[in-house]
Amino acid sequence: MPLITLEGIDASGKTTQIKYLQKNLYSLGADKVIVTQEPGGTVVGKEISHLVLKRKELDIYPSTEVFLFAADRAQHVMQVIKPALTEGHFVVSDRFVDSSIAFQGAAGMQKEFIQAVNHLAIADIKPHLTIWLDIPVEVTVERLDKRGESDRLESKGVVYLQRVRDFYTQMAENEPYRFKRIDGTQKPEEIAKQIRQLCKDRFFGR
Ligand SMILES: Nc1ncnc2c1ncn2[C@@H]1O[C@H](COP(=O)(O)OP(=O)(O)OP(=O)(O)O)[C@@H](O)[C@H]1O
Ligand SMILES: [Mg+2]
Repeated sequence: MPLITLEGIDASGKTTQIKYLQKNLYSLGADKVIVTQEPGGTVVGKEISHLVLKRKELDIYPSTEVFLFAADRAQHVMQVIKPALTEGHFVVSDRFVDSSIAFQGAAGMQKEFIQAVNHLAIADIKPHLTIWLDIPVEVTVERLDKRGESDRLESKGVVYLQRVRDFYTQMAENEPYRFKRIDGTQKPEEIAKQIRQLCKDRFFGR
């Protein structure tokens, strides 16, 4: 069964859209839809994610970060994704390997290194469709401001997020069939409609 992943920079609307997508997959005829996320899609993963994202006092090297996110992913794939796919469910994951390539790539790690580590962690699991919710970095700034989370951005920086976005742009160019860009500045309902259509064409015939 299909694995669908959502990608994008911070506050691009992934969590919002995943809710629409779950409903829409059911309305298209899916039997069971599992919604999950990275990092922290498992109990072990939550510990790892806390270590990487919350323990700001730790000086974690970018290469260590690649391994930690891959460890989170290994647990996630073994415990959640693989069993669900085997049981014939649709799996929708909020972030996957592409997030590591984009975010750790933007932090200076080589794409080949990130891919190799992740290959060891998850072997042959690959998304069938990836939805990239693309928004300009300024929109991230606005949305985080609105939510009173501007400190989140300061820790990353606008320039860094722009590099992350550039990585996503590259992926969309390299893999146009799997990696689909959607304009994330549109109204949520409109975005949901476009994602539904993509899924309909890809998984339910036309
Ligand atoms: N299409 C949209 N237009 C305007 N605002 C939106 C849209 N989609 C989501 N938002 C708002 O932007 C904020 C971020 O949305 P959401 O949490 O879905 O994004 P996310 O990609 O999951 O973010 P995070 O990086 O925190 O996981 C929320 O306050 C949400 O209400
Ligand atoms: Mg989210």
